[in-house]
Amino acid sequence: MAAPAVNAEYLKEIDRARRDLRALISSKNCAPIMLRLAWHDAGTYDAKSKTGGPNGSIRNEKELNHSSNNGLKIAVDLCEPLKARHPKITYADLYQLAGVVAVEVTGGPTIDFIPGRKDFMDSPDEGRLPDAKLGPSHLREVFYRMGLSDKDIVALSGGHTLGRAHPERSGFEGPWTKDPLKFDNSYFMELLKEESGGLLKLPTDKALVEDPKFRPYVEIYAKDEEAFFADYAASHKKLSELGFTPP
Ligand code: HEM
Repeated sequence: MAAPAVNAEYLKEIDRARRDLRALISSKNCAPIMLRLAWHDAGTYDAKSKTGGPNGSIRNEKELNHSSNNGLKIAVDLCEPLKARHPKITYADLYQLAGVVAVEVTGGPTIDFIPGRKDFMDSPDEGRLPDAKLGPSHLREVFYRMGLSDKDIVALSGGHTLGRAHPERSGFEGPWTKDPLKFDNSYFMELLKEESGGLLKLPTDKALVEDPKFRPYVEIYAKDEEAFFADYAASHKKLSELGFTPP
């Protein structure tokens, strides 16, 4: 599909969709799953072959049925009425806008959003998203493939300040923080505590404190929420623009 014409009318439509997303996400408390939708659409990017990435292909049933995407049909379906109200906007832009708005309405940093992503329907094979049961080298393999860095890995993992795991979706259970609808630096504070206090720590979360190159970022973000917000906003923008050259 051709890139959408990002003219004044398109930008106006983005503003309208942004307002609709704010209302939807606040009324349904669905910020966590919207953020996960944006991340899973983008996180398939392969920098070498320039395939995958934030291109809306997650709505393809084949990709939605990948086991790492269990539960995300809920988020895709929540976006459908918005797509119907703003048909000009590509799915790729809509899902990334939903991720940005999810972080914003839960108290997180403002993330710069540039529209113009093309929609694709061809999905990459299963296996490009990270496996929560593995460790640091797996995280690096997956995120380096996207062209992201150690700092991006730690900052973006802070997305787990929102939401929870569901046994029927991933086999894991519970939230990472005491207030899973508030975007703050508590994920990193909890990671550094010896006791889990009943909160979730995936093996890939623990990898961030165990690995000597990841850990310094965890320590900074646990101490300094502003530093986390600044790095998170930069890394999230990168994630949302993988393979995308803004018009
Ligand atoms: C949820 C794994 C990175 C945002 C989950 C779940 C798993 C997981 C297993 C639970 C799914 C469920 O049972 O519903 C991982 C792994 C990552 C990673 C292995 C590698 C670093 C990220 C990133 C973001 C993110 C980069 C966003 C920037 C979320 C959110 C939820 C979630 C918001 C909660 C969804 C909900 O409450 O429905 N993740 N994730 N994750 N993840 Fe990640």
